[in-house]
Amino acid sequence: IQPTALGAQPSDQSFVKKLRSSGRSLVVFYGSQTGTGEEFAGRLAKEGIRYRLKGMVADPEECDMEELTSLKEISNSLAVFCLATYGEGDPTDNAMEFYEWLQNGDPDLAGLNYAVFGLGNKTYEHYNEVAKYVDRRLEELGATRVYELGLGDDDANIEDDFITWKDKFWPAVCEHFGIEATGEDVSVRQYRLTENPEVAPDRVYCGEVARLHSLKNQRAPFDAKNPFLAKIIVNRELHKAGDRSCMHIEFDIEGSKMRYDSGDHLAVYPTNNEQLVNRIGELLGVDLDIIFTLTNTDEDSSKKHPFPCPCSYRTALTHYLDITSNPRTHVLKELGEYAKDPKEQEKLKSMASTSPEGKQLYNQWIIQDNRNIVHILEDLPSCKPALDHLCELLPRLQARYYSISSSPKVYANTVHVTAVLVEYETPTGRINKGVATSWLKQKQPSEPDFPLAPIYIRRSQFRLPTRHQTPIIMIGPGTGLAPFRGFIQERHIAKEEGKPVGDSILYFGCRKKSEDFIYQEELEEYVKKGVLTMHTAFSRDQPNKVYVTHLLEKNMDEIWRVIGENNGHLYVCGDAKNMARDVHNIVLKVVQEKGSMSEAEALTYVKKMEAQKRYSADVWS
Ligand code: FAD
Ligand code: 2AM
Repeated sequence: IQPTALGAQPSDQSFVKKLRSSGRSLVVFYGSQTGTGEEFAGRLAKEGIRYRLKGMVADPEECDMEELTSLKEISNSLAVFCLATYGEGDPTDNAMEFYEWLQNGDPDLAGLNYAVFGLGNKTYEHYNEVAKYVDRRLEELGATRVYELGLGDDDANIEDDFITWKDKFWPAVCEHFGIEATGEDVSVRQYRLTENPEVAPDRVYCGEVARLHSLKNQRAPFDAKNPFLAKIIVNRELHKAGDRSCMHIEFDIEGSKMRYDSGDHLAVYPTNNEQLVNRIGELLGVDLDIIFTLTNTDEDSSKKHPFPCPCSYRTALTHYLDITSNPRTHVLKELGEYAKDPKEQEKLKSMASTSPEGKQLYNQWIIQDNRNIVHILEDLPSCKPALDHLCELLPRLQARYYSISSSPKVYANTVHVTAVLVEYETPTGRINKGVATSWLKQKQPSEPDFPLAPIYIRRSQFRLPTRHQTPIIMIGPGTGLAPFRGFIQERHIAKEEGKPVGDSILYFGCRKKSEDFIYQEELEEYVKKGVLTMHTAFSRDQPNKVYVTHLLEKNMDEIWRVIGENNGHLYVCGDAKNMARDVHNIVLKVVQEKGSMSEAEALTYVKKMEAQKRYSADVWS
């Protein structure tokens, strides 16, 4: 059996045994997709030392969770759960089995002490549903809640939610177990540094997600751990004018054995900006080409390295670490140790504290002023952290998702995406560039040297109806049009093949017809051929704003005819924050008015539509 790049062995799944053999009593489980839940779990486990509760982080997927019934055999034991909620109130992949076990099983959890912190986003309908359920269910099964459920909202300031909860959680734990804080500092390193380890050059990682040389020796099946290095064969500007950019990109997947359906997502592993990476080396005076390894000092941990090691600092900063988002408070706390200027040290420590002034400063100086790690090091010049410590602290660089904008029925060997370039000025006068989109923007194909990008396909639930006759309404302003381009291609093919196809109605909106009406010609061609009915809203072509939602309100009869009378499907894609919510409210109104229902009946009706996948959303914020 091969160990992974992170060193995880298919080890013993008994977390109780591990706790016992290492004299620990605190276990912090995480349900994490992008690493935040895992990071929070790590911080809690580390802080346990302060309260004489030596802690351990654990991935529920790697543990025999039935052992929760026997955790009580360890005195003063406590299980904490940091759990994220995704999509329609779903747990993360690694927490799925545990979640199902709680739902379907009936274990006796009497004597188990627990607390739950949830990671969610208020923009979405099923806010923190997983954490809420687990918190409730554990109590039902007899376990003892040591402190109330904490809810983190990623749409606001999840770091603030977490530290505020944590601040009250620890005193509650102390009271429950009758323990006192030791005051012991928790600034202990989790990983041990080895620079210039004795390894052959071909054993050094160069940006692989997991398996060494996986980008050179490509082997199917391709997935999140083993992405396919696809050629970018088209990268075309879709905007006709204006100062923004929207790219139409085609990835060649021939020979990859990857399959996709309209409505799926393409994940791209981007690379950080070279200048930003170099700037870190410059600011810290480090030769970025030094090879290093970080090894977990906790031998019981299944995660031996924070990212594939050994690698160069350059590789770590370029491929493995997130150097552009706003650092969290625990990073600032550690940075504070390195600041020589007392004022700078004070500032960092204050921002890392939970005092009202400290929180306000963090919110202003980091969040509002939008500083990333490079900006912080520039603006606090006496702060020179050890680069390996910084590499330990920064979160992992994440893959970015894009709604696939093609249909495999027309493009079996290419996957298309439609991506808006992210670039904006921060309040400190700096230009921030979106990691993935600015990297993609540079990837202009010129035969025979096609640029390459590591990708994989993520299946989604966003699907056309199985029968072509079923009428559909698609609401997709801006890049929200992306998946509908695939849907329309597919319905067009069916029509060309002589099959009966129901109405395909598109609501598209953009700022100005002459600037950002993406895929205009294609769409108009479909309208001409009778494949598509299109309603357009150009928000900035007249003094007053016109949005797709305004058009929907005018077309309530048409909507009801599709969803109420003809069992049709309604889809919405794009901005999760305002647009999707506004659409939801309009749909409720249509059902209520045109279907002659009460508010409560309309709500039930729409919920049923969602359950039957007749109302689907593919939204992001
Ligand atoms: P990042 O480096 O990640 O920067 C983005 C961040 O910068 C934002 O989160 C925000 O915090 C900040 N930011 C951005 N603009 C500003 C501003 N004006 N002021 C202050 N801060 C700002 N995107 C598409 O273009 N097309 C799609 O089809 C698409 N589909 C998606 C489907 C799903 C399921 C999901 C989750 C996302 C989708 N996205 C899509 C978004 C996409 O994944 C990326 O988030 C987006 O391209 C930005 O990535 P980036 O790396 O370029 O920017
Ligand atoms: P605006 O930027 O002029 O406000 C794609 O982003 C289009 O969606 C733009 O024309 C944008 O208009 C519009 N838009 C902004 N908020 C919206 C909302 N709540 N509902 C529908 N469309 C919206």
